[in-house]
Amino acid sequence: MKEEIELHDENPNGSNPSNNPWLHEIIERSVHRRTLLGGALGVAAAQFLGGSLLSGRAKAAAAVPLGVSSLLGFTEVAPSQDDTIHVPPGYVWDVLLPWGTPLFSNVAAFQPDASNTAADQEGQVGFNHDGMHYFPLNATEGNSRGLLVMNHEYTDANQIYSAAQGSTITPDAAGVEKVAKALAGHGVTVAEIVKNNDGTWSHVVDSPYNRRITGTTPMAFSGPVSASHPLLQSTITPNPIGTLNNCAHGFTPWGTYLACEENWNGYFGTESTTWTATPLEARYGVTKTGFGYRWHIANPRFDVNVNRNELNHFGWAVEIDPYNPTSTPVKRTALGRIKHEGATVTVSRERAVVYTGDDENGDYLYKFVGRKPWQEAIAQGVSPLDSGVLFVAKFNPDGTGTWLRLQFGKNGLVPANGWLDQADILIRTRQAADFVGATRLHRPEWVTENPQTKDILVTLTNGTGNNSAVNSNRDPNPYGHIIKLREPFGDHTRPTFTWSIFLLAGDNFYDPTVPATQSIYGSPDGIWADYDGRIWIQTDISNSSQNRADRGYDRIGNNQMLAADPNTGELKRFLTGPRGCEITGVITTPDQRTMFINVQHPGESTTFWNGLFGTPSVTNPTAVSNWPYGARPRPTTVVIRKADGGVIGT
Ligand code: FEO
Ligand code: CA
Ligand code: CA
Ligand code: CA
Repeated sequence: MKEEIELHDENPNGSNPSNNPWLHEIIERSVHRRTLLGGALGVAAAQFLGGSLLSGRAKAAAAVPLGVSSLLGFTEVAPSQDDTIHVPPGYVWDVLLPWGTPLFSNVAAFQPDASNTAADQEGQVGFNHDGMHYFPLNATEGNSRGLLVMNHEYTDANQIYSAAQGSTITPDAAGVEKVAKALAGHGVTVAEIVKNNDGTWSHVVDSPYNRRITGTTPMAFSGPVSASHPLLQSTITPNPIGTLNNCAHGFTPWGTYLACEENWNGYFGTESTTWTATPLEARYGVTKTGFGYRWHIANPRFDVNVNRNELNHFGWAVEIDPYNPTSTPVKRTALGRIKHEGATVTVSRERAVVYTGDDENGDYLYKFVGRKPWQEAIAQGVSPLDSGVLFVAKFNPDGTGTWLRLQFGKNGLVPANGWLDQADILIRTRQAADFVGATRLHRPEWVTENPQTKDILVTLTNGTGNNSAVNSNRDPNPYGHIIKLREPFGDHTRPTFTWSIFLLAGDNFYDPTVPATQSIYGSPDGIWADYDGRIWIQTDISNSSQNRADRGYDRIGNNQMLAADPNTGELKRFLTGPRGCEITGVITTPDQRTMFINVQHPGESTTFWNGLFGTPSVTNPTAVSNWPYGARPRPTTVVIRKADGGVIGT
């Protein structure tokens, strides 16, 4: 592939030393953005946006005073083991779009005994809400009407099936129905939501934008790996369908959503006694038993001995246009095939740049740099994400780092070493990254860009092995940490960076490497810098460690969300969740006066709570939690507002 990105030195700094907003910044935050960039006016606006992006942000960063925390105005909440949400004084929270909410008037109501069918679930909000974005719906009402788009990572057999059904998958019609319900509970929800006069929010039943994308929705493939690639020819689904284990996400400047496929390997298995994993399959964690879901018992699509190449349909980032409810989701293969935690998109030198963690202990951090200006690609009717260079991060001990090309013909990725072409490299992304010498990390999860400084922040949720500075000099590393990458001049197309640790997670009571004055937390996962640069951090302490003294997690309590001021390092706990949950997914309306977060897997089997109350099951789904309605626990979006109508976090 020809070198299209010129990495020349240029001074990105303009000549205006003030902190005043630039037009392109206003466009970016504007509820009119899609309109502005879509029509005749859009051409000029888009050119201005691209051409001035670097200088405006670099200038804003230079003017940020250090040592002053004007960002975090709220009173910190204490750690909690309560089976509810706590937010700071002056804030309120409401439930929106819990699992099972019908999106259409012809869909059955949610049944608290979990007796809804697979067909019902196809028209209801999915299970285990995760990454999420808010898309303003029109120019005049963007802060009060929009599309909430969210991932549904996985289903819990103890919660989605009735007591009569049981949790076990059997090789009969009942098993087929249960796998179908699970598949329908996965994927993505697009829901129109509207702010009511009293400040609360509701979903709009029968909105033409309402949509479920599930484990069986037809999918297109684009970029270097086509659906006709030999390694994608599965016998049962020759035309690829479905997206699974959509964890974190991304959103693009052109108004689309990226749902990412993380632990897809776990859905597959086989009863064959002769099946063994290929090196490629083993590198992605494919085993005979998977994660024990046993879907293959009732649905041969997930039997790796019967339908082997189905595996290669997964591990991608999936682009969805929420404004076009009849559009086919597209797997953007140029972004690589990994356990895609998320896909965080930014723009540098007019190119789309996408960061993504491969969330497995010892796996890598990637970035994709688009080949041509994204506006040019859109104008030509091609995707800015289909052509470009995929890089993987190599961290050096001296605080520098290199982005290594995963590009056919470079870094030894040539036929003599067994690499056939770019499609081959992308299907085998992890192995290509191994080959070029990427740096293993402690489970890279979400990535965000501080809009003030253009620093890239990455959560490393926890891990063991490969002890090093970048992995925090803790081994094992049960609490995780957050690293910061800085690329020259804030130019994200560059092949080098410097890095440092932004925050260590943990509890000084157990771990003296953590500052004694710092708010205690562990296993950072979701991270998002809001438009002012407040860093929102969400935790996903595993159910085997939550609340346990013998794991050093008792004082930290339930999973939570914190906010950090990147200028001062100040950290405050903003929210604590109910029992057994993780907190994940965070976005605000453009005016930052409504925040949406997700409570995933409340009431899931959790070692600590199981010991007190028993293990959740289809006959006792409320053992750990009965949040939010005093009944079967339901993953849900939570709306957070400030009672005085102010900006969230102030
Ligand atoms: Fe689905 Fe890596 O969290
Ligand atoms: Ca996650
Ligand atoms: Ca999780
Ligand atoms: Ca996680």
